[in-house]
Amino acid sequence: MKLKFFPTTIFRKTPKVTFFDAGLETSNGCDVVIHSEEATSPPDDFKDEQYYVHNHQIDHNLVITGERKFVLINTSWDEPHHVIYLNRYMGALEIPIGTYHRSISGKEGSIVLNQPKRDKFFNPAKEFTPQKLDQVSLIKARKTPPVYWIYENNQIKRVNFDPLERKVKALN
Ligand SMILES: [Fe+2]
Repeated sequence: MKLKFFPTTIFRKTPKVTFFDAGLETSNGCDVVIHSEEATSPPDDFKDEQYYVHNHQIDHNLVITGERKFVLINTSWDEPHHVIYLNRYMGALEIPIGTYHRSISGKEGSIVLNQPKRDKFFNPAKEFTPQKLDQVSLIKARKTPPVYWIYENNQIKRVNFDPLERKVKALN
């Protein structure tokens, strides 16, 4: 499964100033999600992880400050479980319709700009209800070893971690 990242266009960068175009042509929304310190969206419900899953919205998440770990689960993908360590340089991560997703910030918190593409059936009262992994296929997918996406040497890399060999293996 190839995830999509939409790059930003940097206009100007000096030691203290970065000025870039974050616009996405396909988007018709502009949401900001601020984690002021360690936080998870959506939060756990007691011990159970919760996820968002959209029916009428494709997300495009761009980190503005900090780093945000995204977990994506989609049982229709050949690789159903992904963990993305998203930072600004990676651009906006696309989250397709039907993908269970949650995001986690470290102690510093993070600010994310989401520029979704919403269809005419979008209803905010229905689109943002946290969901548990309550189907066997989802629980199985969550247990499969994830594909990790990291930023290293100015590149987005897909890697998987082999716990037996205790090393990270680069994938294509
Ligand atoms: Fe979302």
